[in-house]
Amino acid sequence: MGNNAIEVMMNHRSIRKFTKENVDRKLLEEIVSCGLRASNTGNMQLYSVIATQEEPLRTELCQLHFGQCATAPLWLTVCVDVNRYHHYCRVNGCDEPYGNLLWLLSGLVDASLFAQNLCVAAESKGLGFCYLGTVNYNTEKIATLLQCPSGVVPVIAIAMGHPDEEGRMSERLGSDAVLHSEVYHDPTDDDIVRTHAIRDNDPFNRQMVEENGTRNYCEIFTTKRYPRAQNETISADLLAFLHKSGMM
Ligand SMILES: Cc1cc2nc3c(=O)[nH]c(=O)nc-3n(C[C@H](O)[C@H](O)[C@H](O)COP(=O)(O)O)c2cc1C
Repeated sequence: MGNNAIEVMMNHRSIRKFTKENVDRKLLEEIVSCGLRASNTGNMQLYSVIATQEEPLRTELCQLHFGQCATAPLWLTVCVDVNRYHHYCRVNGCDEPYGNLLWLLSGLVDASLFAQNLCVAAESKGLGFCYLGTVNYNTEKIATLLQCPSGVVPVIAIAMGHPDEEGRMSERLGSDAVLHSEVYHDPTDDDIVRTHAIRDNDPFNRQMVEENGTRNYCEIFTTKRYPRAQNETISADLLAFLHKSGMM
């Protein structure tokens, strides 16, 4: 794969199967350095990343992600981290004002930009990866396993390694669905049907509708993948943990 950023981004596909080859420490440090170059709030870099490669921790972490990407040799858990900045404040005899919603959001943005820079760098080096949203399903258990102190909250998980599959180029909405000129233009029903046709008519997605026995592709998400009751339970658990962890 070339090193042109646009070429790398336009060829992106998630990888979920990996060879046994480990990710070399130098390569890990190089892609982390690319993540560090991302813009961030006030240049405070309110994140940390935990690289898990050793057994039995790697397998225990994988289990908290419900066994997904089981062959990945490298697990990156990106955390919002106000602990380090608060420590810096203490060392400098300053107030510690960052345990609240504003700084959770700021840290989340910082962590996301860091993670995506890192992932694009990883792909440019021939590595594959898959983000795992299950970090939000077991946040407290993951934080405990990884010994995160108060003020450090896992928010992004990435399974990474050398690809053992090509991956599938999945469809995307076109720019006409997401790009608004000057002000927001609320889409009509027709706009929604037209702009989402690429998603609804995709052969892979249609196959999933058949397999799931739902009325349409949308219903797979609302009834099976991310149903309301599950969303609300996980949200309540997350909120409780954010308070407990001193993040809010
Ligand atoms: C925050 C986030 C969470 C995700 N969680 C999962 C996951 O738990 N399991 C999984 O197989 N893929 C997961 N993915 C990958 C998405 O399913 C994938 O990016 C999307 O379907 C588009 O496919 P592509 O990345 O191959 O282009 C996640 C992606 C993101 C950004």
